Amino acid sequence: MKIYLDNAATTRIHPEVLEAMIPVLQHQFGNPSSIHAFGRETRSLIEAARKTVAKLMHASPAEFFFTSGGTEANNTAIRCGIKDLGITHAISSPIEHHAVIHTLEELEKQGIITLSLVKTDSKGHIDLNHLELLLKEHPRSFVSLMHANNETGTITPIEKVGELCRKYKAVFHCDTVQTMAHCHHDLSALPVDFITCAAHKFHGPKGVGFLYVNHRIKIQPFITGGAQERNMRGGTENVYGIVGLAKALEIAYRDFDKDLAHIRELKTYMADRLVAEMPGVTFNGDISAGNLDTVLNVSFPPSEAAEMLLFNLDIAGIAASGGSACSSGSETGSHVLRALNSDPTRPSVRFSFSRFNTKDEIDYCITRLKECFLVKV
Ligand SMILES: Cc1ncc(COP(=O)(O)O)c(C=O)c1O
Repeated sequence: MKIYLDNAATTRIHPEVLEAMIPVLQHQFGNPSSIHAFGRETRSLIEAARKTVAKLMHASPAEFFFTSGGTEANNTAIRCGIKDLGITHAISSPIEHHAVIHTLEELEKQGIITLSLVKTDSKGHIDLNHLELLLKEHPRSFVSLMHANNETGTITPIEKVGELCRKYKAVFHCDTVQTMAHCHHDLSALPVDFITCAAHKFHGPKGVGFLYVNHRIKIQPFITGGAQERNMRGGTENVYGIVGLAKALEIAYRDFDKDLAHIRELKTYMADRLVAEMPGVTFNGDISAGNLDTVLNVSFPPSEAAEMLLFNLDIAGIAASGGSACSSGSETGSHVLRALNSDPTRPSVRFSFSRFNTKDEIDYCITRLKECFLVKV
């Protein structure tokens, strides 16, 4: 049995996405910058994908730029947002993804910005009063706060953050990589300047994403060298990836309610069973309704079994992740769990779900977990 419960790291491709990409890989190979028919054909695929994305997000196609994924989109927003808008102070949090926090720390080291971190509580909620204090002290800051944390699933009320940013004339970048296609984003109402996306988090292909730049904001390209993406990102476009991204987003919105109900049921079922059947289990982050349904971060009591937990799950055919998958294999552990003051002697495993998981898989996983901890099965 092979069970994939690491969907916050990446997801399997949806068969309909693959179906949409294959003809592009097989036949539609023209360079979108070429003016002949082959080029015009692939250019039209890119522009159709942009329109699809923009329509689903309630924004204008001119506000979307395709990238190689979430990391590049975040880097573009942060580096170009700060440089091109002449910003000298940034506000972020200690629980951001490394694509954000390492980028900001580098800019701070280079003396380009000073950086303040907003306080978070033990479940990963942003302290909005502290954010307002920081904004009062440093108006016109660059604020970078993620929508849902990739390790815990705790959601930040980005409407409120956006309103505060507008009040203090700050620029607001929100890393929406984990919530894209899992939450609705209505950009006609959301006060945000930059949001980011990686298609592989919602059954699209890897190596493609987008950056949304609100029309009020004017930045220069991060990657120079060509006039692609209306002079905003040099380099021949990943046409089949872009087609796959738009298709994956379209499917996610089409099946939104059904998939959400299914994923929510799996998460609640697993959490309830763990609490009822495994003594000492707790959860990292906020698992109450209103947080990200795809992620369940479980904290196990310290024991010999716990030390080898991920390894033993892997042997049993279960793929999950300790802390953030993006830094799996790192020796330093999770900066997010540290910021939440999670007990370092308690091992944590992030289980993350998708529409393709089943209740039987959760049952199997719980049986194996109980075996690892010698709980009577
Ligand atoms: C919150 C968050 N931001 C950014 C990224 C980076 O995205 P990508 O792997 O597409 O570069 C990830 C990936 O795990 C993520 O979870």
